[in-house]
Parts: sequence; structure tokens; C-alpha cells
Amino acid sequence: MAVTKVPFYGHVRQYENIKPEIDAKIERVLTSGAYVQGPQLAEFEQELADYAGAKYAVGVGNGTDALWLSFLALGIGPGDEVITNANTFFATCEAIWITGATAVLVDCDSTTRTICPDAIRKAITKRTKAIVPVHLYGQCAPMDEIRKIADEYGLLVIEDNAQGIDGAGASFKQGELSDVVCTSFIIQKNLGCFGDGGALWTNHKHVNDTVRRLRNHGSPARDQHSAGFNSRLDDLQAGVLSAKLGHISDWTDRRIEIAGKYDAALKDVAGITLPVRRKGYRHVYHLYVIETINAADRDALLQYLNDNGIDAKTHYSIAIHNQAGFPWGKPVRLGTDLTNAEKNAASCVSLPMFPELTDEEVQYVIDILKAWKK
Ligand SMILES: Cc1ncc(COP(=O)(O)O)c(C=O)c1O
Repeated sequence: MAVTKVPFYGHVRQYENIKPEIDAKIERVLTSGAYVQGPQLAEFEQELADYAGAKYAVGVGNGTDALWLSFLALGIGPGDEVITNANTFFATCEAIWITGATAVLVDCDSTTRTICPDAIRKAITKRTKAIVPVHLYGQCAPMDEIRKIADEYGLLVIEDNAQGIDGAGASFKQGELSDVVCTSFIIQKNLGCFGDGGALWTNHKHVNDTVRRLRNHGSPARDQHSAGFNSRLDDLQAGVLSAKLGHISDWTDRRIEIAGKYDAALKDVAGITLPVRRKGYRHVYHLYVIETINAADRDALLQYLNDNGIDAKTHYSIAIHNQAGFPWGKPVRLGTDLTNAEKNAASCVSLPMFPELTDEEVQYVIDILKAWKK
């Protein structure tokens, strides 16, 4: 049947493709009776640590909690400044505020849209304690340059990898050049559970031990407590993730293949630019984000795609500092001018991108985009 509609998400297709594996994990957890902090969580944490090549992995309630629990474990708090992208999902900034620290928003670069190392440098003050580069859209930030800056100024580095799991730089793996890597497993992420979930991985024993305590009411052992919270990855979600983890690399490869088709077919379409991949990087294309050269054309392009049955979206059309009511009394500083972040927000259009897209659907998106008349 001819394609006339292309969805944005493929998680139901993904479930159907690996249903026996997922159902077996769920059944095992359900019949075990251990639903919270049980053996399935421990098993998944070990699998994730092995996969990431890290000493420790800790499951938590969601990606935002992975960030702020890591910040707390690293001693980040009121009076400290934490530098991050102005063009990120809102949660990165929220996680900084939860600790009481000041979020310092800096510009992205003009092509890849990941954080700009020069902008980081410009924003550093005596109060700067950490850098939180976001692997936006699935491409790693230039961690080698960021590591150099961090070493020069004695700063912590926490990777916001909610969008970038399975990615790598040309010369680095995630986590090799930072203190902690945080990720989100919310359903639409490249490795998604059936609801909310998150995790971090690290080689710091202190971070591992502290987050394990904090996520479970500050409890190191039965009946013992210190100040803490409740942020646990439950065993059902851990089971789902355990079933999916073995597929992530193939799924990424399929995303890269689809991105290659878009790249080749759309390179001559007038009025848009395509995502820019750094040489040698494994960009995992959590999102395939094109931009209109003229910001004024964005809404019309989005409408045109939607009118033709393509569920295109924006990520993110309002930069954090331009949200209504910003900053709601929260501690924040604009560390640089944010010209690139604003252009990104005004021009972005995310095309359907998930491993279960059929070649016919990809071709349909291409055909419709090629027929776009500005
Ligand atoms: C860049 C980024 N950081 C943090 C988060 C927060 O993750 P969660 O929604 O699981 O809290 C997300 C996604 O939602 C994200 O895309």
C-alpha cells in the first residue's frame, strides 16, 4: 500500500519486533515478586556498566534525577555555577536548579548545535564548578576539547547523554573524559523503557555509593537512613531495558542508515540545511533535525510536512531563556550571547527518525520534502 502517513515514534513497532524477549523478562519479574530494588535491577545495572565499560552503573527514576543526584554526589550546590547548553531540553537546567546551583547558559556552535567550547571558556568564573555538555540530537559534544578546558580550570564534567546513548567521538568513548554520564530511558529515547527511567555510569566509587544511598531514602542498609530521596528504577523497567540493551547497537546502525538516505537525497533541497556530523563521530541520530535557512520559513515547512501526513516536530522551538516567565526566580546567568541557540530554536524541524521506519516511509518523507515550494 502506498505510504501516506509517517509517524514520529516507533516504540510499538519495536515492542512487536522483540515481544517474546520483553514478555519473558516481564514475566520473570512478575513471578519473582521482587519489583523494587530486586535482582533484575542489579542484573541490568551490571549489564549497563559492562556495555558502557564503566566500573559502576546506577538505575534511577528518570534522566533528570540521574543528573541532579550526580550533581549532589559531586558536591555541587548553592553558590556554584554549572555551565550548560542554552539549546537543550529544559530538564538539564532544572537538574542544576534542584541542587541550588546557578545554571550558566552558553551558546552552541553554528553547525552541529552541540555546546561551543569557546563559549564555555568565555563563561567561566571563579564560581564555576562543572560543565554539563549535552549530546544533543545524538551527537557527542566535543569532549576532548571540553576535557582540556576542565583540566585547565579544575572543573567537573557530567555528560547529559539522554539523547546520545551508543554514541562516541572520533577518539573517545562516552565516560572516558568525564566524571559521570547520565542518561534517560523515557520511552522515546534510543534505549527506552515503558515509562520513566534513567541511569548514570561512572568510575567514581563515591558517586556510585552516594547515588545508591540518595535514591533509596538515604539508606545504606536496612533501617539506616540519612537525608535522601525516592528515585528508583523499578525491576519491570529494568527487565525491559535488559531485553533491549542487546539490540541498541543494531538499532543505532539502522538510524545511521536512514540518516544516510536523508543526507544523500535532501542535500540539494533549497532553503534547508541538514544535520552536520563531526568527522569520525558515531552520531546516533536520536533526532534528525534539519533547519530552514530563513527562520521565517520554519512554521510553513512544518505545516507542509504535517499536512502531508508526516509527523515532523520541533526540538526545541523555544530556547530556555526565552520561555515565558523565565527564570521564575531561579539562579541563572546567560554566559555568552546566544545567537546560534536562538537560530536553532527558530529554524529546527525534526523529521521522523526511528529504526523501525520502513524504506518506503523514508522515501515518502524524502519525496514530500523535495516537492516543498517555499
Ligand atoms: C537532553 C535531555 N536531558 C535530560 C532529559 C531528562 O530526562 P527525563 O525526561 O527522563 O527526566 C531529557 C529527556 O527527557 C533530555 O532530552
